[in-house]
Amino acid sequence: MAKTILITGGAGFIGSNFVRLMLGKYPDYNIINLDKLTYAGNLENLKDIQSHKNYRFVQGDICDAQLIDGLMQDVDWVVNFAAETHVDRSVDDPFVFTLTNVIGTHTLLEYARRHRVKGFIQIGTDEVYGSVETGSSVETDILDPRSPYSSSKAAGDLLALSYHTTFGMDVRVTRCTNNYGPYQFPEKLIPFFVTNALEDRELPIYGDGRNVRDWLYVEDHCDAIDFILHHGRAGDIYNIGGGQEMENIQITDIILKELKKPETLKKYVKDRPGHDRRYSLDISKMLKLGWKPRHTFDAAIKETIQWYIVNEQWWRNIKDGKREFKDFKDRWYKER
Ligand SMILES: NC(=O)c1ccc[n+]([C@@H]2O[C@H](COP(=O)([O-])OP(=O)(O)OC[C@H]3O[C@@H](n4cnc5c(N)ncnc54)[C@H](O)[C@@H]3O)[C@@H](O)[C@H]2O)c1
Repeated sequence: MAKTILITGGAGFIGSNFVRLMLGKYPDYNIINLDKLTYAGNLENLKDIQSHKNYRFVQGDICDAQLIDGLMQDVDWVVNFAAETHVDRSVDDPFVFTLTNVIGTHTLLEYARRHRVKGFIQIGTDEVYGSVETGSSVETDILDPRSPYSSSKAAGDLLALSYHTTFGMDVRVTRCTNNYGPYQFPEKLIPFFVTNALEDRELPIYGDGRNVRDWLYVEDHCDAIDFILHHGRAGDIYNIGGGQEMENIQITDIILKELKKPETLKKYVKDRPGHDRRYSLDISKMLKLGWKPRHTFDAAIKETIQWYIVNEQWWRNIKDGKREFKDFKDRWYKER
């Protein structure tokens, strides 16, 4: 079906895993990876496939209308991963979230429309449903985003869906739970705690540590997007999750136990403002369609921890080498 796919944000965590999946699975697809290479983008994530004959990397911003106009001429499908993604940073510096997640998404949609691109997948998050004290969110629930990150992602979702309703464009929106796995920027909970523990540094736990998230191995997320690309329907929304809800403190204990590190590394810190208590997704729509996660949390978290042990240089280059990492983390936790 699809021939040339524009993948945005393909130098980030999930995007790079998705680029690798597409190139390996579909030898006749051409992949254009458009990424601005913000602090979170990293070409090291794609080293093994950078010279693949069906792959082209373009450094650029999804807000750059002229660039997007030019790129869309050759494109059949767009999969939009590009985003500002760290909730803490959206508390610290919210405006860039609106620029990329709203204006950037809108720019992609508009030029995809003008060039009659066949389809557009907007990669979204479960955080748009807001904190769910009981039960689980279904695709038709009212959105209740509460952070600048989730609000900007909700705006992107709604713009995308409006392009289906108004212009008849084939737009599909995904909403996924927390991912973990190889190449995740080490500011996010699991790689941050794994690498801190490896360095015998403290693991800063927000509030009482009892916030609940559902966790999905990144390869399962990429499989789900592939499934939606090939079997989804125009205008539909798809919840994607692992069915592995856990409190942050449980994740912390699993990491410490796996690495044989002491409990004394746990440090409770002042909670993040507006910290949602629980996200929970009902994924029965995807299960009915025939997708299901292939990895269990128990096995995949071990594999993930092992990956960070083996690939120490990868995360050291970020933690020790990228000023944007250290400056932000040092300041953020000093305030807590
Ligand atoms: N990580 C998760 O747990 C999770 C869960 C659900 C949904 N999502 C969504 O999946 C997508 C990817 O998340 P991730 O964790 O891989 O993010 P990430 O932060 O690791 O990567 C984001 C990528 O987007 C690029 N980018 C940022 N702004 C850009 C711009 N203006 N133009 C072009 N490129 C830009 C960055 O350089 C980076 O390579 C996001 O849309 C995110 O909202 C993530």
